[in-house]
Amino acid sequence: MSTHQDMAGASPHPGLQADLSPMGRSESDTLPLPHGERVGVRGTPLLKVENLSKTFILHLRDGARLPVVDGAGFALNAGECVALGGPSGAGKSSLLKMVYGNYRVDAGAILVSDGDETVDVAAAEPRRLMRLRATTMGYVSQFLRVIPRVSALDVVAEPLVGDGVAREEARARAGHLLARLNLPERLWALPPATFSGGEQQRVNIARGLIAHRPLLLMDEPTASLDAANRAVVIALIEEKKRAGVGILGIFHDAEVRDAVCDRVIDVTQFAAAA
Ligand SMILES: Nc1ncnc2c1ncn2[C@@H]1O[C@H](COP(=O)(O)OP(=O)(O)OP(=O)(O)O)[C@@H](O)[C@H]1O
Ligand SMILES: [Mg+2]
Repeated sequence: MSTHQDMAGASPHPGLQADLSPMGRSESDTLPLPHGERVGVRGTPLLKVENLSKTFILHLRDGARLPVVDGAGFALNAGECVALGGPSGAGKSSLLKMVYGNYRVDAGAILVSDGDETVDVAAAEPRRLMRLRATTMGYVSQFLRVIPRVSALDVVAEPLVGDGVAREEARARAGHLLARLNLPERLWALPPATFSGGEQQRVNIARGLIAHRPLLLMDEPTASLDAANRAVVIALIEEKKRAGVGILGIFHDAEVRDAVCDRVIDVTQFAAAA
């Protein structure tokens, strides 16, 4: 009997498997990250979204139906940065949350390459999804979710500690990243709850980028940043790309989008008939 877990886990999805052939690329296509993390081979498929449909049902509004996407499909390769574009309300953030597994989908597949396996996020069991997030798929939200009483340095270091890096080493790397993002050192020991919007966003970006995840989802990571810090984020994203990380993001800021994105997917093409 084919179980739910089988669908989500070990057996590679035929659709993505066909694309996972080496395509004549070699490891030398990518530069390693400074700490020797696993690097992706640029150009290999990381994410394939197929025929995705979703309608929100508003239970508190007599079950009103709000179709958001219908038949959405696109793909993302290692080393590529792709923007989701379209006007406010088009469904960009919803699509990103579906890929991360935060929103259920009504139909379609979200195939993420996870080492030798392919995981369909749309069908994966919660535990498989958590494992995928722990190793493969990162998410940089628009706003920092503040954890009470935890210092900025530890908020940033935590994903590395979760990966098994020794705490002192993780904190040193967190400090290095916060320094690059111009967060004053006097703030590092403080919990970010009282930080300014831009300071919190820099802590959030550092937390989202510190650990190596081959696939990164970013929802407006630079909205509250000044030009100098936007330039730092552009450099950090470029380093990730060079290391073979694939990025799917929403970048309202045209300067950032033009600098880092290889192409834009207009989500209005997936608009569902209301
Ligand atoms: N959890 C939800 N429940 C009900 N409707 C939702 C939910 N999340 C999003 N929507 C609706 O789906 C549509 C798309 O919203 P979404 O946040 O994806 O747009 P967006 O393209 O990210 O817009 P913006 O550029 O303003 O961030 C909107 O009409 C929104 O009201
Ligand atoms: Mg949005």
